[in-house]
Amino acid sequence: MPASIITVFNQSGGVGKTTVSQNVGYHLAQLKTKVLVVDIDPQSSLTAFMGLEPMDLGKTVYNAVVHKEEPAIKHDIYGVDLLPANINLSRAEMELAGVIMRDLRLKQVLDKVRNNYDVILIDCPPSLGILSIMSLVAATHVIVPIQTEFKALKGTEMLLNTIMEVINAANPDLKIAGIIPTMYDNRLSQAGKSLEAIQQLAQLAKILPIIPRATDFANASQDRLPLAVYNSKHPAVKVLHDIAQILKGNVL
Ligand SMILES: Nc1ncnc2c1ncn2[C@@H]1O[C@H](COP(=O)(O)OP(=O)(O)OP(=O)(O)O)[C@@H](O)[C@H]1O
Ligand SMILES: [Mg+2]
Repeated sequence: MPASIITVFNQSGGVGKTTVSQNVGYHLAQLKTKVLVVDIDPQSSLTAFMGLEPMDLGKTVYNAVVHKEEPAIKHDIYGVDLLPANINLSRAEMELAGVIMRDLRLKQVLDKVRNNYDVILIDCPPSLGILSIMSLVAATHVIVPIQTEFKALKGTEMLLNTIMEVINAANPDLKIAGIIPTMYDNRLSQAGKSLEAIQQLAQLAKILPIIPRATDFANASQDRLPLAVYNSKHPAVKVLHDIAQILKGNVL
């Protein structure tokens, strides 16, 4: 079976996309699935969180997407493979302007390696530009992290419209695999309210387990480790494991 391709998408910045990609990828690998994570963000946070120095990389996802080179995959970082990015990727949008069928470029890259994996997770940039659209076109599933704060649902309509447009125009089989409320802090009254608002979206998509706000997430990424490796006893580790298990059941 070719891999399921899950894109982690939200055009809002700092909602936890990269943290979800890294940690859910790690737990899926722990569940004995073969996992590739793809960094399609020129900020290259995922590449850095996984311990690589983006600027030191000769070849990245940019070479594969823009110049159709073989994808330069790094193998077995805590059990997970990575197709890394660096700032070169910021040129992709300009260089692909006017290129025919450019929305298919990431799908074409992943088709080459899809048989080697059970699941491919794509970490999107915080924008609705070509890189995010390419990811939605390549994907079989999308998961949407939403931050539980007062502006949680701002932009959600635009986000869902974008997903619907891609489904209608280019990828009719794309499924919303779930919404993940992130950075939940039960000491904040607004967090409770925004969680209720997010739960209203349950008719559109499954609401996956809630990721709590915890400073150890930032500490773990600074140490370039999955949370489970940084602090295996942290309560959020079980949440991440549960999300991976649900995705494995529903998506693979
Ligand atoms: N549950 C959490 N609790 C506390 N901090 C978190 C949590 N999840 C992520 N963070 C931290 O918040 C910051 C933003 O997270 P992350 O990079 O995953 O978001 P993002 O949506 O990928 O951002 P961008 O839109 O810039 O790509 C990071 O410093 C990360 O370590
Ligand atoms: Mg990110």
